[in-house]
Amino acid sequence: MSEVKIRNLSYKYPTGNDEVLRDINLDIEKGKLYALVGVNGGGKTTLCNVIRGFIPHFYKGDLHGDVLIDGIDIRNWDTSEISQKVGFVFQNPFTQISGVKETVFDEIAFGLENLGIEVSVIEKRVQDIIKLLGIEYLQDKNPNQLSGGQKQRVALASIIVMEPDILVIDEPTSQLDPQGTEEIFKAIDIMKQKGKTIILVEHKIELIAEYADYIVVLQDGQIKKQGKAEELLANEDTQNYGVELTQYTQLNLQMRKHNMKTDKIPVTEDESIKVMKQWLALKGVKT
Ligand SMILES: Nc1ncnc2c1ncn2[C@@H]1O[C@H](COP(=O)(O)OP(=O)(O)OP(=O)(O)O)[C@@H](O)[C@H]1O
Ligand SMILES: [Mg+2]
Repeated sequence: MSEVKIRNLSYKYPTGNDEVLRDINLDIEKGKLYALVGVNGGGKTTLCNVIRGFIPHFYKGDLHGDVLIDGIDIRNWDTSEISQKVGFVFQNPFTQISGVKETVFDEIAFGLENLGIEVSVIEKRVQDIIKLLGIEYLQDKNPNQLSGGQKQRVALASIIVMEPDILVIDEPTSQLDPQGTEEIFKAIDIMKQKGKTIILVEHKIELIAEYADYIVVLQDGQIKKQGKAEELLANEDTQNYGVELTQYTQLNLQMRKHNMKTDKIPVTEDESIKVMKQWLALKGVKT
């Protein structure tokens, strides 16, 4: 059974004239990482808001079709239960910080405190997450005085410490440099290894190629394409929907035009090196 099942979903915001999600059908399997990609305004954040129940529990509007989480209709989920089942990291990190805690440590502990968990357990879990994300140097700082990138890391920490089954993460690296981005992806990968289901909105295609199992391409509120990451990103047609292919795939596609055909179209760096070596070996070139 899919952990999240979406059937014939359409949605219109209360203030909008048009449907911003249209006839969405999607199955999200437990323990897999799904990347939501596509042009601005395509509906990625709106779809995230449906999966975490924010639509229809807070944003009313017109919702048609079915959204089931663990087989239960989203409309029938209790809002506090769904927020424990589905952790959500906002596109804008500034909205995630509570503003009521004076240190990063306390900020990360905040959600657990609200669940009435024993202090020693909370402290241990917060310490573990801080270590996992490599943000020990931030733990005594005031959350309000952090940079955008630091806030993004703290926002992610404050959600994963809650250990939700499903993580919905909307552009977690928009404020981060390449190193900070890499760290976030490592943390996301660890969550995946722990069996979490992850729905990630992200534009950095090289990282999507490396970490995502499935890709869902949204445009004009519709799913234009969906499938396995390595297949979808090896297909030139994907570019027609505002999704760039990785530099490794682009190079390979150029080579093909010059009759240099490798067995497989690579999407990641490692794969690219592998297929190039194979191709060179076939040509009798020693590497
Ligand atoms: N609260 C809202 N009320 C009315 N319309 C909204 C609201 N939020 C988003 N929209 C509209 O819904 C459509 C989809 O927006 P959404 O934010 O889901 O797209 P997105 O793919 O996340 O875009 P981006 O890449 O810019 O984050 C857009 O046309 C947007 O203007
Ligand atoms: Mg968005």
